[in-house]
Amino acid sequence: MIESCTLVIFGSTGNLAKIKLLPALYHLERGGHLSPSMRVIGFGRRDWSDEHWRGEVREALADHLGERLDIALLERLLARCHFIEGDLEDDAGFRRLADRLRGSEDFPPNLVFYLAIAPNFYGVTVDRLAEQGLNAEEHGWSRLVVEKPFGYDLESAEILDGHLQRHFGESQIYRIDHYLGKSTVQNVLVFRFANLMLEPLWNRNYIDHVQITHAEARGIGSRAGFYDGVGAMRDMIQSHLLQMLTLVAMEPPPSLDAEALRDEKVKVLRSIRPIPRQAVHAHAFRGQYRSGESDGTKLPGYLEEPGVDPRSATETYAALKLYIDNWRWRGVPFYLRTGKRLGATNSLISIRFRHPPQQLFSDTPIEQLKPNWLLLNIQPNECMRLELLVKQPGLMMRTQTERLDASTCNMGRDQIDAYEALILDVLQGDHSLFLRYDEVNYAWRVVDPVLKLWATERDYIHTYPAGSWGPADANRLFDKDDQDWRNGLEE
Ligand code: BG6
Repeated sequence: MIESCTLVIFGSTGNLAKIKLLPALYHLERGGHLSPSMRVIGFGRRDWSDEHWRGEVREALADHLGERLDIALLERLLARCHFIEGDLEDDAGFRRLADRLRGSEDFPPNLVFYLAIAPNFYGVTVDRLAEQGLNAEEHGWSRLVVEKPFGYDLESAEILDGHLQRHFGESQIYRIDHYLGKSTVQNVLVFRFANLMLEPLWNRNYIDHVQITHAEARGIGSRAGFYDGVGAMRDMIQSHLLQMLTLVAMEPPPSLDAEALRDEKVKVLRSIRPIPRQAVHAHAFRGQYRSGESDGTKLPGYLEEPGVDPRSATETYAALKLYIDNWRWRGVPFYLRTGKRLGATNSLISIRFRHPPQQLFSDTPIEQLKPNWLLLNIQPNECMRLELLVKQPGLMMRTQTERLDASTCNMGRDQIDAYEALILDVLQGDHSLFLRYDEVNYAWRVVDPVLKLWATERDYIHTYPAGSWGPADANRLFDKDDQDWRNGLEE
């Protein structure tokens, strides 16, 4: 049975709470994963009563779930919900919070503080929690959940971490990278370590290169306030894509225990060859979407999006070539790529195998032989595909590609949302799917040299039409002429 606790959400009226956290809590309620006495406190500036907040929660869930909303279940969740008015920069609200937590037996003494707020408020929030002694684990545990981005670069991440660790120990901190909560991402581990036959192939002797692509058809929408000045490299590559890379490249851990798993991930990040300043352009490429079209609909350019500085050089597309200098991977390029307003929404890990060493089949020189690909589609459809060569029907020894799809492809089953899994892990005190600080630190070390150089080159940025697959010049990152992007399972 999961221990009971009081979950306090800072930023309870924001987008993350409405779109992710409340639906996740609802689903956990449905699955019977919440202890009967667990409480959820929304903390925010509005002068709301518990009743008023319950109304807001009801509305958010009705918007999210529509007709699927189960009223009895909703009422069960609402009965757990309370609201405390408070400003993050004013200690009065934190005093009210502490008084309420301590003044009533209704609130279980185990505490989770979820910071669904802008990162620049993390410091002040933990200071205030500590002033009220809410970080101390005297009567129960006290856990802190922080969202990405964790810092803006290596230096700011160090400062932020120092600040958090003044009040909360590493074992109390849960740094979220929601990609680790996706079951398709976790499947990379199962795929690799539950199928021994892959192991002999999973190295530089057989793999030509690896691509990790996260493409989004949507633009930045109303997120200019967050996104402009942050850009695709910090927003996606430093976190989600590097995490996926670690899962593809790591050595088998001795167990799936949190420390063992994270030790192996850190080893990968530490083995990534640093990119010297003079090599940044050979390893990294950035672009920004200009106006374009998709299915006959005109799409605005990034600079025309509401709230974006019209002179902004923020990248909405970033691609990065990395090498992992270890025994398994030396010399194998890993190409990471992400972008907004690309041709489709898709996240895909593509592994291309090397050509066989000798030409045996008539009319098909080695270089023209189609390579074998292993494709792990992360979203929107979970799918695993292996492309193999077989003989073409007929008299000649010619080859053609056959595709072996896992039977789960295109089943369109209900995915468990990443946040559901992650909140449950916080309640259970399992750190495996959360980032340890050294992971964050080494991930910043990988991208920092690129960001530093880009920051000095603000006068020009390549553009690509919205709805396309990004700037064609990004292909210059490839090591060989026969390497090219895989955009989806079919292309
Ligand atoms: C977030 C980024 O961390 O991940 C967003 O800030 C991005 O810009 C999102 O759109 C992608 O997550 P998902 O789960 O929709 O693939």
